[in-house]
Amino acid sequence: MRPLYFENGVLKLIDQTKLPTETHWHQCHTYQQVAEAIRDMIVRGAPAIGVTAAYGIAIGMNAFSETNKDLFFNELQHIAKVIKNTRPTAVNLFWAVDRVVNRAVENSDKSIDEIKKIILQEAQRMDREDVESNRKIGEFGNQLIHPKDTILTHCNAGSLATCDYGTALGVIRAAHEAGKEVQVFADETRPYLQGARLTAYELKEDGIPVTLICDNMAGHFMRIGEVNCCITGADRIAANGDTANKIGTYTLAVLAKENNIPFYIAAPVSTIDFQIQSGNEIVIEERNSREVTHIREHQLAPEGVKVRNPAFDVTPARYITAIITDRGILYPPFVESIKKLK
Ligand code: MRU
Repeated sequence: MRPLYFENGVLKLIDQTKLPTETHWHQCHTYQQVAEAIRDMIVRGAPAIGVTAAYGIAIGMNAFSETNKDLFFNELQHIAKVIKNTRPTAVNLFWAVDRVVNRAVENSDKSIDEIKKIILQEAQRMDREDVESNRKIGEFGNQLIHPKDTILTHCNAGSLATCDYGTALGVIRAAHEAGKEVQVFADETRPYLQGARLTAYELKEDGIPVTLICDNMAGHFMRIGEVNCCITGADRIAANGDTANKIGTYTLAVLAKENNIPFYIAAPVSTIDFQIQSGNEIVIEERNSREVTHIREHQLAPEGVKVRNPAFDVTPARYITAIITDRGILYPPFVESIKKLK
């Protein structure tokens, strides 16, 4: 289940605001439309927004019709800035934009048409590499899963959050494909309901047993012994292992430690921000209050009530049992295991 396709100069995104009740492919013809789709969460999930951003630059630069190379690179910097300004937390977005821009700069001696081609090829390479990374995360992570484990996951770190297969759900898929009778508890993940709408949908489609629970039920199931491990994705991992992920991840990690349940993060190395020493340096996106007061068009809360809506939180490294990456499983002390990846 891929959430994005690039065909004939157009980026097609499965509209994740409408899933699972409606399958609508949203078409982006301009880089501004790509930026809007990221901001409005038509596409979401750290790796998926990274690759979407790369295609956005390819679309924007393909529309450049002049012959002056300085103007070409000015436009490239402008588009990169617009796309980076969409969502602040997932480092994959910045990583992807910088990778495409650097590739163009390295080839600045070539013709404009050639550089345009190189930009698109880089985006396509990142798309392919993401799926390969997820398969590797799945292979490594499967080693941590026992034959009849019940795994709790939060948000959606599945095919829909990546270019296919998923990170946290990649591990679950790999275990399922290996014949293990795994079951999943999917937290609904308020306010945007990625768990209820996307994770439950993906797993059901794949025939992997999934049970949907409200976010506040996780502690109960941990305490009564119905959860064997937790696996979530990540939006940004600091050099010390502190991890930003969907709001509510921190709560789960604390509950897991209290109940002696392993807590795993599954993410590609591109989600590690080697520049920051701890999670305190991660910018947490605050989104529109309407996501909390409403579910789609339906109003739940009183008009004008004060709302806070941080989209992510930081789980301190001490709550994380291991980080499953595409280059192997990292164990504490993460300062050491992460440094070795550099
Ligand atoms: O706000 P979202 O839906 O983009 O947040 C997504 C998450 O928090 C995911 O867990 C994370 O991006 C990893 S996706 C493989």
